[in-house]
Order: sequence, then C-alpha cells, then structure tokens
Amino acid sequence: MTLVLFAAGARRWPLYRDHLTDALAEAGVTARLVSEAPEPEAVDYIVFAPGGDVVDFTPYRNAKAVLGLWAGVERIVGNATLTQPLCRMVDPAMTEGMVEWVTGHVLRHHLGLDRWIRGEPGWQQVAPPLARERTVAMLGLGELGAAAARALAGLNFRVLGWSRSEKRLADLETHHGEAGLERVLREAGIVVTLLPATPETENLLDARRLAWLPPGAVVLNPGRGTLIDDEALIAALDAGHLGHATLDVFRIEPLPDDHPFRHHPKVTVTPHIAAETRPASASRVIAENIRRGEAGEPFLHLVDRSRGY
Ligand code: NAP
Ligand code: GLV
Repeated sequence: MTLVLFAAGARRWPLYRDHLTDALAEAGVTARLVSEAPEPEAVDYIVFAPGGDVVDFTPYRNAKAVLGLWAGVERIVGNATLTQPLCRMVDPAMTEGMVEWVTGHVLRHHLGLDRWIRGEPGWQQVAPPLARERTVAMLGLGELGAAAARALAGLNFRVLGWSRSEKRLADLETHHGEAGLERVLREAGIVVTLLPATPETENLLDARRLAWLPPGAVVLNPGRGTLIDDEALIAALDAGHLGHATLDVFRIEPLPDDHPFRHHPKVTVTPHIAAETRPASASRVIAENIRRGEAGEPFLHLVDRSRGY
C-alpha cells in the first residue's frame, strides 16, 4: 500500500483529508493517507506546503516525490535536504481564480470605477476608452499569466506578453529578454506581474524599469512581493509617474500594519488571495501525480530546480 504523508500543516489537513482520499480512490491508487508518519522511511509521497510540518527531508529517503500545494516554490526549491523530484501545483481552479482577480482589477482601473464608486459630483459624461485602446503588459506567460493574458485578449485588450524564453501564443504579441521588457513596459497602461520569485526576478521592476512605464500607468502584482522594489514603487507613485498599484503579495506576509503600502492613497492591498489552491481540484492533481509515480509514468508539473521554478 502506498503511504502518503500530508505535511502541509494542521490547518489544511481537515480541508484536504476527504478530498484527497476520494481523489486517490478515483485515480485507482490504493493508498494510506496520514498526517503523521510512523516511520519516515516508509513514506512514498509527501504533500507539502510552506509553513507545513516537514523542513528536513533527509529521513524520508524512500519518498518518490514531494508534491507541493502551491504554484510558487521559492520556499522549498533551495532546500538542500530535498533530493526527491519536486512537483508544484497547477490547479485549474487556482487558474480560474487568478484570471478573475486579474480581470477584475484590470477592469477597475481601465473603467476608472473608483471615481464612480466614490461618488463623483456633477454630470461629467467622459466615457472610458475601449479595451482595444488599452495595452496591458503581462509579465510571465506560464500557467497563470497565459490564462490571464488570454482572458484579457478575449475582452479585446491589447495584451503584450513577456517571458524568459521566446514564446508563441495564439492571438498574443509576445516578447522576451531585456529589450522585450523595455518594449512592453513602454507601451503598457497596465502591467501585471505573474512571475516566480527567483534570483533573476528579484526587483525586476526597479526604479529604472518603472520609469519606462507611461505616465499614469497602473501596476498589478499578484505574483510575488520580491518582483518589485517597494521603495522605487512608492517613489514612482508619490512623484505622480504611476497612477496606482494593486498588490496581493509582499516581501513580508502578513503585511505589517505600519507598512507604507497600508495607508498609501494610491495603493490597494489584497491579502494574498488572488488565487488560492482549491482542495477539491488540487487533490485530483496530487492523486494523478501519485498514480503516475506508481505506474512509472513521468510526473506532471516538475520543478526545474536549476531555474528555480
Ligand atoms: P509558471 O507556469 O512557472 O510560469 C512562470 C512564467 O514566468 C513563465 O512564463 C516564465 O518564462 C516566466 N519567467 C520566469 N523567470 C523569468 C525571468 N527571469 N524573466 C522573464 N520571465 C520569467 O508559473 P505560474 O503557475 O504561472 O505562476 C506564476 C507565479 O504566480 C508563481 O510562481 C507564484 O509566485 C504566483 N502565484 C501567486 C498566487 C497568489 O495568490 N497571489 C497564486 C499562485 C501563484 P518561461 O515561459 O520562458 O519559462
Ligand atoms: C500562492 O501564492 C501559490 O504560489 O500557490
């Protein structure tokens, strides 16, 4: 019998236990699912989340894979005790959530909704531009960025995508490399950052690159806090160069109450809720990977540890 250790934290265990049990049965895997392993060397698979119960993977020497519940892996990818394959979460429901968060916040800024929600006095009939007149830069064209970019393109936004490697995506103009980044930022009314936290993406949006954005541009960051230089962002907002920043992720989470983002009139904070992993659909992803492992098939969503994502 396959022994699966749920090491993603006591809070998640009651949320996942039944879904994982059902998903493993549906996948045809005969498994014993536990939240505490009697003997680490008996564990075949570890379900992991940052802040969970396993930090040192050394005793789990027979584990065939570590299966993450998070899309981002920056809190485990550098763990030197981890020698097993590491798979990250690609959850269709998480992708749906991210598409909705990105689309909602893009539309807020595109339509200038704040003005009407605040209650503009008078009767100034200034119609917002059409989506096809607004350019959105999507930094990151992976599972989440590509889905969000397609949704925005489906609403007629002009979407310019940017990624590490060269990409061809139907109906999207794509760029890569430093020159490509400058090109997409210089044209973007709204920029969305859906990149992983890696040494290469640290402070990607720094003062120099923020200055490439047109005056009044809006920054949406549902990726990771490290992608943006916080001080440079605040300086660009204060100088009037940027119109607004809507941020879901931060260098320190929970974001401290006295952090400058908290009370800045041009910053909207959402508390890392853009796209949660959903237990029902994520359990099916985990179960499918365990089925694959047991059948000797390649794992899905393997992390390239040298790239860091
Ligand atoms: P993914 O499928 O791995 O895609 C990552 C994208 O970023 C790829 O297009 C990749 O380029 C690009 N990239 C990586 N390093 C780059 C670099 N140095 N320069 C330019 N492009 C680079 O990841 P995903 O599933 O879309 O998730 C993206 C991130 O979203 C996660 O890592 C996580 O941090 C964040 N996230 C946030 C939430 C939330 O609730 N706020 C939820 C889930 C995920 P290539 O295509 O060339 O490889
Ligand atoms: C959440 O931020 C994730 O990486 O899944």
